[in-house]
Amino acid sequence: MTGEQHRVCSALAPFGTSIFTEMSALAIRSKAVNLSQGFPDFDGPHDLLEAAAKAIIDGPNQYTPSAGLATLREAIAAKMQRFYDVEVDPRDEVTITSGATEGLAATLLGLLEPGDEVVLLEPCYDLYPPIIARAGGTAVYVSLGQPGFELDFEALKEALTDRTRAIVVNNPQNPCGKVFIREELTRLGELCQQHNILVLGDEVYEHLVYDGRSHHTLLSIPALRDRAIVVSSTAKTFSMTGWKVGMVIAAPGLTEAVRMSHQFLTFCTPGAFQRAMAKGIGMSHSYYRDLLSLYTAKRQRLCDGLDELGFDVHAPQGTYYASIDITKLDFEDDLAFCRYLATNVGVAAIPSSYFWHQRREGTHWVRFCFCKKDKTLDQALERLRRWKR
Ligand SMILES: Cc1ncc(COP(=O)(O)O)c(C=O)c1O
Repeated sequence: MTGEQHRVCSALAPFGTSIFTEMSALAIRSKAVNLSQGFPDFDGPHDLLEAAAKAIIDGPNQYTPSAGLATLREAIAAKMQRFYDVEVDPRDEVTITSGATEGLAATLLGLLEPGDEVVLLEPCYDLYPPIIARAGGTAVYVSLGQPGFELDFEALKEALTDRTRAIVVNNPQNPCGKVFIREELTRLGELCQQHNILVLGDEVYEHLVYDGRSHHTLLSIPALRDRAIVVSSTAKTFSMTGWKVGMVIAAPGLTEAVRMSHQFLTFCTPGAFQRAMAKGIGMSHSYYRDLLSLYTAKRQRLCDGLDELGFDVHAPQGTYYASIDITKLDFEDDLAFCRYLATNVGVAAIPSSYFWHQRREGTHWVRFCFCKKDKTLDQALERLRRWKR
């Protein structure tokens, strides 16, 4: 085979290896405490581990229906009613995917036509641009204001054209921790109705919203009920990122498009994990409350610790990421800072500029995750303290 035949396709080649892969590899090489990629260093509820193990032993261990097991789809519909007062038909409006990752890809691949434009609100999760490109679409970027990450509706309106097919709203938003308030989503809904465009909601951090704020799913906004495709995941809510059980919830016509591509991507998600997650999603309110208390305490532990060390800390409204502004530190940029930190201090973080299309907009932000055991967070803070001294 020639080098030409081994080439990555032109849509994906410009994106290179993800910064998460690079920083996690550097963390392992440097034996750094890894606060870079967002996965917990603990497992979720023991009951769910047992439920999955039992489901494997009891079987069946075969393909499930492509849309997902009815028990899980029903549990998701019940949860949408219980938490958000949104009625969802589990048969025609819920699809189980292999993580939100596949759910997002299935949605974009199932709905976009070549030439369609998709608006992304920066800083944005790194999956959207390459999948939009692979689907033949074009990403159009609108930056949230800094340092508060407000959405400028005038800038958003200016970004819309007659080719705009959708806007992606990641709420709560990774990496900046923004939580959209209901008024913003209502305004967004009106705009989408006027321009006849869809909204793709990435709501994987829906249960991690702090300080008494509420999560408003896009499907609870009347103007968006039939034009929003909401993607979520069990990964963050149940601390089982490796199980890859995600979901897409949308009106029947949109669900049909999602299922069309999902059947050719993975066809279905492992049945044992689906059965265990049906149990997880059905757990009582106290589980969700305890999860939020756990993360509220971890957010405080990390943010207070960084603050005491003199860092300029941006505590998130939602998600499990906190950021620091490194403008006043003597580093060329966030990447140089993160490489130095992992190699010389023994703490791995993510240079947030990679969440912007034009990296220069975010080279002063560095993201740390706090989905870690307290002792891991303390160890990272201790290493930073020693360095600062
Ligand atoms: C904003 C956002 N969307 C999607 C995902 C992927 O979710 P999953 O692990 O369910 O594929 C992540 C994971 O970090 C994320 O931060």
